[in-house]
Amino acid sequence: MAKLMQLERILQSQGFGTRKACRALIRFERVSVAGVPVADPFAEFTPDGLVFEVDGVAWPYREKVYLMLNKPAGHECSRAPKHHPSVLALLPEPLRNRDVQPVGRLDEDTTGLLLLSDDGQFIHRLTSPKHKVAKVYEVTAKHLVDDGQIAALLAGVLLHDEPEPIAAAACTRVAERVIRLTLVEGKYHQVKRMVAAAGNRVEALKRIAVGPIRLPDDLPEGGWRWLEAAELADL
Ligand code: URA
Repeated sequence: MAKLMQLERILQSQGFGTRKACRALIRFERVSVAGVPVADPFAEFTPDGLVFEVDGVAWPYREKVYLMLNKPAGHECSRAPKHHPSVLALLPEPLRNRDVQPVGRLDEDTTGLLLLSDDGQFIHRLTSPKHKVAKVYEVTAKHLVDDGQIAALLAGVLLHDEPEPIAAAACTRVAERVIRLTLVEGKYHQVKRMVAAAGNRVEALKRIAVGPIRLPDDLPEGGWRWLEAAELADL
């Protein structure tokens, strides 16, 4: 039989505050299910598939959080940012109240696809070097990108502190100064350091894919959306 949960517990699990705060939200009739206000905090619902509303805003119940964000520049991928706001500041408060973390890190000035989750195993699987998840970056370089630089990136470049040369899994030129670079590692400043080692310099960096997930054209910078079931299955 499908499990039942009290409404106040459901709200608490979704990041709407302490049990007491959730109980108060419900008693003040700020919570509806299927368009009908529910004033009883102990009313029971099947959480899976439930969509409730708080102050008229619909919230789908999610046992775990899996989402994508189109990261704008000027945001840090840290819960305790030092110089710029955290990417977490771009999410609604209930999500910030859950233990949501970026899946790997993008530099403050890097834009594009960032996955976030509160599922530790999922984060580990996507970031562990063992799993070699492909990340695709669109790199705008300061100087024209010549064939020699592309060949060097594909053959492997030696980075400071690395014992072996590191090669791009793929590298194609899309404009005179723009390349699409695929990496399967996630080393510190890896794209910037590899492009520098190949004799150029990164002027702008945007991640456009992680594994099978591509940054959708219709997700504006700073916008986020839940990962769809099919996307999660692909990952
Ligand atoms: N490589 C970098 O240099 N920066 C990023 O943000 C991601 C990959």
